[in-house]
Amino acid sequence: MPALRNAVSCLARIGYAERRIRERLGLADLTEIRWRALPIYRAEKLADRDPLASAIDLFLLQGAIPLAELNGLFAKAELDVLIQIGLIYLDERGLARAAVSLYPVGDRLIFSDHAWPSLPHPGCVNVPRDQVMSVGTDSRWLARATVRRPVGAALDLCTGSGIHALLAAAHARRVLAVDLNPRAAQCTRFNGLASGATNLEVRVGDLYKPVGEERFDLITANPPFVPSPRNLLQYRDGGRSGEEVQRRLIAGLPQHLAPGGRAQIVTEFGERGDEPLADRLREWLGGAAMDIHILRLRENSAANYAIGHADGADTYAAFLDSVHDWAGNLKTQGYTRIVSVLLAFEWSDTAAGRPWTRTENPQSLHVNAGNEVEAAFANERLVRQPNFPELLERGRVCRAGPIALLEARVLGRNVRANAQAELLGKALPILQTLDAVEREILVRLEQPATLSELEALAKEPPLEKAAVMAALGSLIRRGLVLLKPSD
Ligand SMILES: C[S@@+](CC[C@H](N)C(=O)[O-])C[C@H]1O[C@@H](n2cnc3c(N)ncnc32)[C@H](O)[C@@H]1O
Repeated sequence: MPALRNAVSCLARIGYAERRIRERLGLADLTEIRWRALPIYRAEKLADRDPLASAIDLFLLQGAIPLAELNGLFAKAELDVLIQIGLIYLDERGLARAAVSLYPVGDRLIFSDHAWPSLPHPGCVNVPRDQVMSVGTDSRWLARATVRRPVGAALDLCTGSGIHALLAAAHARRVLAVDLNPRAAQCTRFNGLASGATNLEVRVGDLYKPVGEERFDLITANPPFVPSPRNLLQYRDGGRSGEEVQRRLIAGLPQHLAPGGRAQIVTEFGERGDEPLADRLREWLGGAAMDIHILRLRENSAANYAIGHADGADTYAAFLDSVHDWAGNLKTQGYTRIVSVLLAFEWSDTAAGRPWTRTENPQSLHVNAGNEVEAAFANERLVRQPNFPELLERGRVCRAGPIALLEARVLGRNVRANAQAELLGKALPILQTLDAVEREILVRLEQPATLSELEALAKEPPLEKAAVMAALGSLIRRGLVLLKPSD
């Protein structure tokens, strides 16, 4: 293990970390990396073979590098260990290859199976059923959205490579990671040893079964969610509906989330017409009084989803058959679109009213957004407090930061289009629609103001107190305006 940890440190020293790799490959985000572009990355971005280029090629792009380059990456003692444990091997041409990939997540490095296991023929489903999932877009989204506060006990269900368990190990007293796939559990243990995490325990089993009655302050999960016509991949397929694991996962939260705790889940749902997603989540929660925050990150039509997941790349006819299978299954389920979401659950403060659900549509999630998820809960709770009107009367309000105001003019008709506002510099950029009073308040609020100062700021058009209070509640709830106690 010391030699393995040294090897990982060597890679960190040459700059093998998320930001440097993203910049080197010319990507806005590592989630944009594509196997179809591998030759272009190599020819255009990694032609200058410094150690970082060799490491990216070997550990991320599944490339084969000459021994001279390999020797430039590690000292002999470390290299011997990497070869001895089978992490690096020589192919039939005498070139060095990695048996697994090493995914940079911020400045952490996570080992897992290759992202494109079927190279050189990606698209063919010849991936073993127990493949451990690579660090994918969904993995990164959850890693970025998780609130990073010190917690007692953390549980990571469906841990795979262990990415969320390992990240939680840095701010939890103790972390329990669970996966049904023994290979995934091995991978998580390996990552735990390689990173020196001493507060991580890994168990094999079905969701909460290996957990007993225990409750946790933080629960993270990225369950298999794909509505698949055939259950081929354990890390991906959630049965024909996609819901087989996620339904049981959410249904188990009330028995396992500690008071004051938070559960964060990344997943996808098939949606039918206008049926609100929140209804499904509430039904699975079985009436438990939990507040739910939903970030809708991406939407795909059922047709695009079917095409994206179809396999059978051997022949065009096989591919078409597969598209037909996938599209047919989605249709049978009644899904018209598939939405990627990040969910956060907390126990509700029932003294402040009924549990709430809040849904937002961020335009991207490129950097850590845990603070913003936490603020969404805090803001929502603040405006729901029975004494919120008094707090408003006693405090001062100000814009939460620089705000872009977007206004549309409808020409030729006597209609006014709604304005939209976006708080700039946020990890979760969200365009918020404003009504006329909310817009007026944002525009007039040049300086922090009390409620009465705000009413007096401009008389034309006059702002009614009740309307101002309602609008402020809505702006504070959505994080565009802050409420501060008066000095
Ligand atoms: C989508 S992958 C997520 C892996 C990792 N957490 C991440 O975010 O990259 C889903 C994982 O759930 C595991 N899994 C599938 N069914 C499970 C079950 N019933 N109980 C526990 N784990 C399960 C799979 O083996 C796989 O590792």
